[in-house]
Amino acid sequence: PVPVLTIDGPSGAGKGTAARAVAARLGWNFLDSGAIYRALAVAAMDRGVACEDEAALAALAHSLDLVFEAAAVPRTILWGADIGDRIVTEECGNLASKVAAFPRVRQALLEKQRSFRRPPGLVADGRDMGTVVFPDALYKVFLTASAEVRALRRYKQLKEKGIDVSLADLTEEIEARDRRDRERPIAPLKAADGAVIIDSSDLSIEEVIQACLAVARS
Ligand code: CDP
Repeated sequence: PVPVLTIDGPSGAGKGTAARAVAARLGWNFLDSGAIYRALAVAAMDRGVACEDEAALAALAHSLDLVFEAAAVPRTILWGADIGDRIVTEECGNLASKVAAFPRVRQALLEKQRSFRRPPGLVADGRDMGTVVFPDALYKVFLTASAEVRALRRYKQLKEKGIDVSLADLTEEIEARDRRDRERPIAPLKAADGAVIIDSSDLSIEEVIQACLAVARS
């Protein structure tokens, strides 16, 4: 079977940056599963689908024509249009976490996520990569950090993109989103059995990358 390294954890733990870099260094494929939920949120907004309508959201998830273009600057293409700028906003992240709470939506997106498992290997970033999507993965990491550190990181990240938010609002949002991700009945955010737990609160990105690479080489 194609080897998989799953990297799960809460918002702002540094997963995105670390997981992408780990995939590049291993020469493996990369799955940003959060981007799929974010793209679904964008699709729901564009098609006027209410974020409470599970059946309509699941149908939308099945019909999602979503392409991740791997390039120096990766592009996210939904129904032919570049939605890169739209999926990075906090509004989109919040909506994504709402649509992600529906079992039929998650079921509808399983196959798409599993299709990323191609030779020579896959690094999969998300909330339930090691628990639900790739339970048989050889290598599993649960990447976490304190809520304060995570809010500050996200704040800086958004600022670099020219997006202005208050740190207090962001901390509150991150905590609310975490709670929703942890407490939902389906695929709740938690460490997979056997996952190596890495707390990145006091680690640099490079140290996180090295810790993940060590797991993939174990
Ligand atoms: O970048 P950030 O950590 O804020 O979020 P993300 O990874 O882009 O995911 C956005 C939302 O999608 C999360 O808050 C989760 O609720 C949901 N999600 C999920 O349920 N399962 C995944 N495998 C990935 C994301």
